[in-house]
Amino acid sequence: MKRDGFGSQLGALMALIGSAVGLGNLWKFPYMTGINGGAAFIIIYAGFMFILCLPLMLSEFIIGRRSQSNPVGAFRKIYPKGKWYYTGILGVLGAFIILSFYSVVGGWAFKYFFTALQFGFTDIAGAESQFNQFIQSPFEPIFLHLLFLGITMAILWTGVKNGIEKYSKILMPLLFFMVLILAVYAINLPDAKLGIDFMIRPDWSKVTPSVILNALGQGLFSLSLGMGAVITYSSYMGKTENLTKIAVLTILMDLVFALLAGLVVLPAVFSFGFEPTQGPGLLFIILPEVFASMPGGNLFGIVFFIVLLIAAITSAISLLEVITSYLTEEKKISRHKALIYSGIALLITGSVCSLSMGVLSDILIFGKNIFDFFDMISSTYIMPIGAFFIAVFVGWKMKKKDVKAELSNNGKLKLRTFNLFLFLVRFFVPIAIVVIFLNLLGIF
Ligand code: TRP
Repeated sequence: MKRDGFGSQLGALMALIGSAVGLGNLWKFPYMTGINGGAAFIIIYAGFMFILCLPLMLSEFIIGRRSQSNPVGAFRKIYPKGKWYYTGILGVLGAFIILSFYSVVGGWAFKYFFTALQFGFTDIAGAESQFNQFIQSPFEPIFLHLLFLGITMAILWTGVKNGIEKYSKILMPLLFFMVLILAVYAINLPDAKLGIDFMIRPDWSKVTPSVILNALGQGLFSLSLGMGAVITYSSYMGKTENLTKIAVLTILMDLVFALLAGLVVLPAVFSFGFEPTQGPGLLFIILPEVFASMPGGNLFGIVFFIVLLIAAITSAISLLEVITSYLTEEKKISRHKALIYSGIALLITGSVCSLSMGVLSDILIFGKNIFDFFDMISSTYIMPIGAFFIAVFVGWKMKKKDVKAELSNNGKLKLRTFNLFLFLVRFFVPIAIVVIFLNLLGIF
């Protein structure tokens, strides 16, 4: 049977941007910029995108497209000796863990979308307690999480070309257009300039090691790196696609979306006199307060939460596709069965994550509730470890001529910066990740 795949370079690009642009851009990036001091964080982040994330993304492309396999099969095919395929297993596991809490947050986005639809953002003082009450309640968040999961499964049901690609090609341009409208509106609010200044005037005195770490972790997460999602998508790419071009465009667009999201959220926050340092609650606590005080705020809220939902869904499909491709190719079960089994498993783990903020909040692992533990274990451990082994694999284990052949489409494309690429994946990326990782563990 012929393997499903993307029908065009544009389709592959839209799917990759869909995977990259998600809660990471709309939810995490504005609040990370807020707590990490603004412009200086953004500049460091943008730098990492190109010197660290770009070589990593190309490495995943090389592994994925060369092998035309799921992340586990990919390592086995390219390098059958040894245990390199554990990197793929780690990725599948990571996708499962991330998706468990990611779809819970996707459910929250549904809740707020429905609230906006009913013009329900009216209570300025109560936003925080309403949010806390909602996420701690036992039924509604789980139900909405199931809704989010169901839509994700439905898109994957019809396959790569007729599912992922088809929807990405419609949804990503729509998303861009809507974010643009929101940003134009936000930067015309009174005193929006305060928010814009915060994003463009660097205050270097705010840069600490943890700001640099946060910039790196955010880059990996936002580009879906280190977990096999990019390996999986690139395994569906044709042999004539220009990998470097797709990688550069994906990264640029991801950055543009993050900056636009910042331009939507931060001017609005400043304009109504709130602080940007709230952290994760910026989106679900501060923004509803902003919507309540802003003229036309509920309408703005409707568009904003549609944007959030679309972005989250197109990312969730890339996570679920990692699991699906693994189950179909390595465990030889049908696509539909794979989706149903993983859906049921995710319903359970997601529900546990959701309940861990309410009735199960007494269960602590390393001092964190299950939701935060899943978040930490994936972004602090699995992603950097996966990224490290992916870079080492391409830099040191694969044959140099194979790497070159894959990047240049067997010599058809000119590679002007191949030696720079090789230097980055061999030395810079692994060393940078180790340093940052040890730092995260508090060893430095
Ligand atoms: N990149 C997505 C975001 O910014 C999240 C995501 C999707 C992801 N697939 C991933 C993160 C794979 C890590 C690995 O929201």
